[in-house]
Amino acid sequence: MSTTTVSTTTSQNASRKKVTTLTFRQKKERGEPITMLTAYDYPTAMAMDQAGIDCILVGDSLGMVVLGYENTLPVTMDEMLHHARAVARGAKSSLLIGDMPFMSYQVSTEEAVRNAGRFLQNGGMDAVKLEGGRERVDAVRAIVGAGIPVMGHLGLTPQSVHQLGGFRAQGKTASAAKRLLEDAKILEEAGVFSLVLEAVPSRLAEFISKEISIPTIGIGAGAGCDGQVLVTHDLLGLFERFTPKFVKQYVNFHAEMHKAFTDYIDDVESKRFPAQEHTVEMSDDEWVAFQKEIK
Ligand code: KIV
Repeated sequence: MSTTTVSTTTSQNASRKKVTTLTFRQKKERGEPITMLTAYDYPTAMAMDQAGIDCILVGDSLGMVVLGYENTLPVTMDEMLHHARAVARGAKSSLLIGDMPFMSYQVSTEEAVRNAGRFLQNGGMDAVKLEGGRERVDAVRAIVGAGIPVMGHLGLTPQSVHQLGGFRAQGKTASAAKRLLEDAKILEEAGVFSLVLEAVPSRLAEFISKEISIPTIGIGAGAGCDGQVLVTHDLLGLFERFTPKFVKQYVNFHAEMHKAFTDYIDDVESKRFPAQEHTVEMSDDEWVAFQKEIK
C-alpha cells in the first residue's frame, strides 16, 4: 500500500465522529455489523482508531496476552487503569470500554459502582464491561443507575474459568441455552447497552441477537451476532501460548518479531549495524579543536 493511501485513510478517519452507545443501537437497527477489538497500549489503540474500529475494549485479557499471567484472575484495577489511560491517549473516536477485573464488582454494589466510576474518572473510558448474568444484575443496575454505560458478557466468562472447568464453550445443552437466553433478557432489562456472547453455539447466539433489542457482540459465537470482537494479540499472531479455534489470524507478528530480533543480533555481532547512515557526524574542524582541548 502506498504512503498516500495510508495518509488519506488516516486523515479521513481523523475527522470521524465519536462512536457512542447510541451508535451501537443505530447500527443494530440498520443491520450494520459493529466492529470491536481489544487494545492495551497507545500505539495499538491509535492504529485501530485510525483504521476506523467502532469500539476498543481494554480487556482483562491484558493479564494473559500482555502481562503473562496464566488466566485473567490476577489482574487488578490499578493495572487496568494504567493500560486504559494509555489506550485513551491513543484513540479519539472509538467507543472505549474498560473491562472490570475479577473482584472489582463481585463483593458489593458500592464497590462495583466505585470501580466502574474509576474507569471513567481516572481511565479515560466511556463505558465498562463486566461478566455474568442474573448473579450480577444488582451490580449492573447500580452502575447503570450511576450513569455509567455497561456492556454485559455471557457464555464463556473467563473470570469463572475454575467454575466452568476450563476455557470451554457454553450453552450447548437445551437447559444451558435456555439459561443463557434468560440471562441475556435479564441483563437487557437491567440496562446494559450491549452484550458480549463468547464461545456459544452460533444458532443460539443468532437467536438471542434477534430476541433482544440491544446489540450482541460475538467472539466465537458465529456470524449471527450484531458485531464481532477478537483479542488483538490473537488476530496479530502475538500470543503464542494457544489460539482458540474461532480466531482468524491476520498476520504472524510473533514470527515477524523473531526475525527482526535475530536479524538485529546478527547485524550487531557481525558489525553491519550501525552503518554510516545510522551515525552522528562531527566536522573535521570541531574534531581538531577537540583534540587540542584535551591536550
Ligand atoms: O478481556 C477480553 O479481552 C474480553 C474479550 C474476549 C471480549 O473480555
